[in-house]
Amino acid sequence: MAVSFTVNGERRSVDVDPDTPLLWVLRDELGLTGTKFGCGIAQCGACTVMLDGATRRACVTPVSTLEGATVETIEALDSPESRAVQAAWTEIDVPQCGYCQSGQVVTATALLQMIPRPTDEDIDAAMAGNICRCATYVRIRQAIHRAADMLEA
Ligand code: FES
Ligand code: FES
Repeated sequence: MAVSFTVNGERRSVDVDPDTPLLWVLRDELGLTGTKFGCGIAQCGACTVMLDGATRRACVTPVSTLEGATVETIEALDSPESRAVQAAWTEIDVPQCGYCQSGQVVTATALLQMIPRPTDEDIDAAMAGNICRCATYVRIRQAIHRAADMLEA
């Protein structure tokens, strides 16, 4: 099945089985390996991308649902919020092994776009679906507050 959608600002067409998850289209067909495979069942958040402006788990999103859609991955995330998040992540040295972090950054960016000054509770609620086996949660929370400060400055 041929499907056309926009990925990181470019129109792309793929011809794959309609049930193929977006995650594998991104990684195997389009070479965008920043989006990670963790659980494959929408439980860990490693595969989080932006789909038509909202976070989505790419591992459970069949490509057949994407005709005409707009997808943004970690490779091209570019907004004041995403730049602040990435700067804060670097400053606070958030990642440990790094595996979960592209999903964390996508979700944190979406949070700041919705709530510019999140509380600890807002952060915990928004980030709850992004699991980190290295347990970098304290630094993630700190970095989101720091990113909010940067955006206000
Ligand atoms: S790989 Fe998609 S949520 Fe875990
Ligand atoms: S930094 Fe290792 S899984 Fe999150």
